[in-house]
Amino acid sequence: MGTVTELDRFDVLSAREVDDAVNCQWRIARRPQGNVRPEDFSWHVTDVPEPGPGEVLLKTLYLGLAPVMRFYMQGTARTGDDILQPGDLIHGRGVAQIVKSRHPQWREGEVVQGQMGWQTWKVSRMTPQEKFFRMPNNGLPAALGAGVLGMTGLSAHAGLFACGQPRAGDRMVLSGAAGGVGSMVSQLAANVAGCDVVGLAGGPDKCRFVLQHGCSAAIDYKAEAVAARLDELRPDGIDLYFDNVGGEILSACLERLRMHARIVLCGSISEYTRDEPFGLANYTRLRATDSSMRGFFVYNHLDRWEQVMEDLAGWIRGGKLKPVQDIANGFAEMPRALANLYYGQNVGVQCCSVRGEPGEWL
Ligand SMILES: NC(=O)c1ccc[n+]([C@@H]2O[C@H](COP(=O)([O-])OP(=O)(O)OC[C@H]3O[C@@H](n4cnc5c(N)ncnc54)[C@H](OP(=O)(O)O)[C@@H]3O)[C@@H](O)[C@H]2O)c1
Repeated sequence: MGTVTELDRFDVLSAREVDDAVNCQWRIARRPQGNVRPEDFSWHVTDVPEPGPGEVLLKTLYLGLAPVMRFYMQGTARTGDDILQPGDLIHGRGVAQIVKSRHPQWREGEVVQGQMGWQTWKVSRMTPQEKFFRMPNNGLPAALGAGVLGMTGLSAHAGLFACGQPRAGDRMVLSGAAGGVGSMVSQLAANVAGCDVVGLAGGPDKCRFVLQHGCSAAIDYKAEAVAARLDELRPDGIDLYFDNVGGEILSACLERLRMHARIVLCGSISEYTRDEPFGLANYTRLRATDSSMRGFFVYNHLDRWEQVMEDLAGWIRGGKLKPVQDIANGFAEMPRALANLYYGQNVGVQCCSVRGEPGEWL
């Protein structure tokens, strides 16, 4: 982790302005070392592309930010996309409006979400690789498609229900509890599945936040001794651990598993900027307790997209899930918004309102 004041260095990028007459892009200037820095990004301006036959022109409204984007920049992510090189447009999903269509299946005016890249306009053939979905007409803000009703939502749902198999009364622990996936998992686990959730987050403000979003207790992992607090709050052990961070916290939870416990491997953000992997200890507790540790990758769960979005929208409308999106104001803020994830500055899903203040879409 770096110091938060390092984020001020991103001010030099904030003066960029989006002009609708051109296509603005953020590309990779160089491979990040450790946390992302302003020098890792370059701003490019190109003509707004014209759609040809079988293509649409998309205007970006919102973009989502995820820790995996640093892997794209490093050239180490394999998500079905090509490995990126310096000079390439950064991958990113977002919400966009079709402003011109020469495609038989997509109409002008439709609002969609899918692979946009970090740019303000895109011409697309709407191929399956880009994973475009129509935003459902469910009365909820389209901005949610950049997170809560997007890949973050699918990750939370698939990770918790398909992978974690939660049971009412489960003594659950959740790391990254104030983040995008975490703030959804805490609410779904408590309010839908009936688990009792202890959430780990960095700092007193985030701990207060998690207590308002499904957790019955919070551990400030930056200020408190995690192992001792787990012993206090989970004296009988853990039935379900949802892991967003890996490293020492995963290791401490492994040590405290009850019989037939489950661990969901969602992410390991504490490992992403380490030079050497943490090296998992205590994994033999899985054997001793007949427990399982299961990973998942969100793009392997796309076949359930519609059902999951319907579930999530229903829980939002029914008050079981409060959507929390941390919206950066303007496309120039994209690099800082990505850095926020690694400096622990976001609460809920980090996303960006590309054309300034969220307006009619929120
Ligand atoms: N398996 C999949 O398909 C899938 C899909 C989506 C996301 N993920 C993973 O799930 C995790 C959460 O993703 P997200 O998009 O919701 O991001 P997120 O939780 O919003 O990520 C940022 C948060 O991570 C925490 N963090 C940052 N550095 C940390 C460190 N060194 N140790 C512990 N916590 C740290 C910070 O919260 P604090 O201030 O509390 O530290 C920060 O606010 C990530 O690891 C991501 O890679 C996996």
